[in-house]
Amino acid sequence: MCGIVGYTGYRDVVSVIFKGLTNLEYRGYDSAGMAIRDEGEIKIYKTLGKLINLKNELESKRSEIKNPTAGIGHIRWATHGSPSLVNAHPHTCSCGKLVVVHNGIIENYKELREKLIQKGCNFRSQTDTETIAHLVADEYSLCKNLELAVRNSVKKLQGAYAICVMHKDVPDLIIGARKHAPMLVGIGDGENFIASDTPAIIEFTKKTIYLDDNEIAVITKDNVKITDIEGNIVEKKVEILPWEPIALSKLGFKHFMLKEIYEQSDVIRNVLNGKLYDIDAPINLNEVKLDKEILKKLNKIEIIACGTSLHAALVGKYIIEDLAGISVEVEASSEYIYRKTTTDSSTLVIGVSQSGETADTITAIKQAKEKKAHVLIITNRPDSNMARLADSLIPVNAGIEVSVAATKSYTAQLISFYLLAIQLAEIKGNCDKSYLKNIKHELIQIPTKIEEILSNTSEIQECARKFSSFKNFIYIARGINLATALEGALKLKEISYINATGYAAGELKHGPIAMLDETMPVLSILIPGGITYEKILSNSEEAKARNAKLIALTSSDDKNIETIFDVVIKIPKVSEILSPTITCVPLQLLAYYIAEFLGKDVDQPRNLAKSVTVE
Ligand code: F6R
Repeated sequence: MCGIVGYTGYRDVVSVIFKGLTNLEYRGYDSAGMAIRDEGEIKIYKTLGKLINLKNELESKRSEIKNPTAGIGHIRWATHGSPSLVNAHPHTCSCGKLVVVHNGIIENYKELREKLIQKGCNFRSQTDTETIAHLVADEYSLCKNLELAVRNSVKKLQGAYAICVMHKDVPDLIIGARKHAPMLVGIGDGENFIASDTPAIIEFTKKTIYLDDNEIAVITKDNVKITDIEGNIVEKKVEILPWEPIALSKLGFKHFMLKEIYEQSDVIRNVLNGKLYDIDAPINLNEVKLDKEILKKLNKIEIIACGTSLHAALVGKYIIEDLAGISVEVEASSEYIYRKTTTDSSTLVIGVSQSGETADTITAIKQAKEKKAHVLIITNRPDSNMARLADSLIPVNAGIEVSVAATKSYTAQLISFYLLAIQLAEIKGNCDKSYLKNIKHELIQIPTKIEEILSNTSEIQECARKFSSFKNFIYIARGINLATALEGALKLKEISYINATGYAAGELKHGPIAMLDETMPVLSILIPGGITYEKILSNSEEAKARNAKLIALTSSDDKNIETIFDVVIKIPKVSEILSPTITCVPLQLLAYYIAEFLGKDVDQPRNLAKSVTVE
């Protein structure tokens, strides 16, 4: 969370930094700011709220900026100190000569702040970041060497940080440093960049160096130097970013979320591509770096994830247990890290994350590694911190996801779990071969089924219009689609701020039914052929008897459904085991259209950020 961009070079500094921040806005949008080096001065511009406000501010002051040569920018997701102008970055030291932007949390900032106040520093904000500005300035006053001052300062910081620093007296030099927060350097010709994430630089360069913890980058327009915290030069590999700038365009869609929902069929084809073309051949995910003999004996898997990725993990549990007969535990990373787990060297731990930067999941993965478990990471960001911790890495290849609400990365995670479960089942040899073959056969048809849903969304739009004024929703399902109910409810909450809760349908009568009346619609996921179909139908009837309005999401042709439910959203025929890959799509659309009718900010919902890099 929070986004950082630094630039020095021949292009218009303000435009480059602004473009970078625009491409990072999914990381936070409480406030934004920029510090520009211009004709020997450091000029600071900050605004509250979204980036558009900074754009207007910069346009109104554009005549002040004559010949900018370097700058650093920031978009904020507030942690310490409320979203306000005074707390917006960049922060400065008392004399204003040193500026800093920061992503992360400094845990010992209070004690550092106390010491700096005693030394006469004049603090203006409530942020932990301002402490860094005063600390580096204090060190600089002693050694008169900005690089050394940053090195000495970061040694005193506890917690997580990615920082960029500039000083008025050190022309066109930007220093970046990181620990437990992502940071990379973009390499150009006569220009260089520092950023917290690749979208910030992708429009300008694909050449990237990823910093590791405790490394420091010193950049000028013609030079990049990376050192460790003691100042020793570190030779780093220059990597080429695999994404094209076009991925950051809405391509005619009103929102990124809608575009990303529509991309799902192609994303799934992409995930399946090369892995499943011959249904008679065994699946071989060569990304799984565990010996076949070990996999054969494997009897314990733990999956750790947060939010939407946790829902993908729940589907993963269901299919791995169903197909491969391996016992699977699923746990929210934030819970896993604060208890005594039974993880050991015989456990396969799977971490799932679209961003690969979620702090809770990273901590959980580190703990699992300490316990000698083999760690498999399923992520959409093979360049992320989490991916770097992996013993085995399955990139889900969904492409950049800009909308804060995850959609295509979720379906790509699901497909990766299906491939993994089939592979494990084939290695174990304990699942009926023709059953597995049928699943593979149907898996290939999933993209077409999704396209069928996406080709006519009028039913879903109508449903959204009808129900957009309700304040509460219940989503129910049983078995494998319980994860879909949880995910559908989460999507609605996230982007429309409507209270929606997913329940195992059988649990309704054990408490939640007390809430039901005509103001609380119930959405039921009903896949015929499954063992729980009739049960969900009767759970829905129980809700109807309490006057709840009923919505069915179903592939059933049963005419009875039309009489029981107020609205029926039809989806193509699909087997129960594969149904989560398509049932999620109408629920994403329902959430999208309700939020859209209510005029909500679909791509950047309040209080959220795309990657949650704080615990
Ligand atoms: C919801 C959403 C979040 C994330 C969660 C974990 O749409 O995106 O619930 O799933 O914050 O993030 P990752 O998957 O990046 O670890």
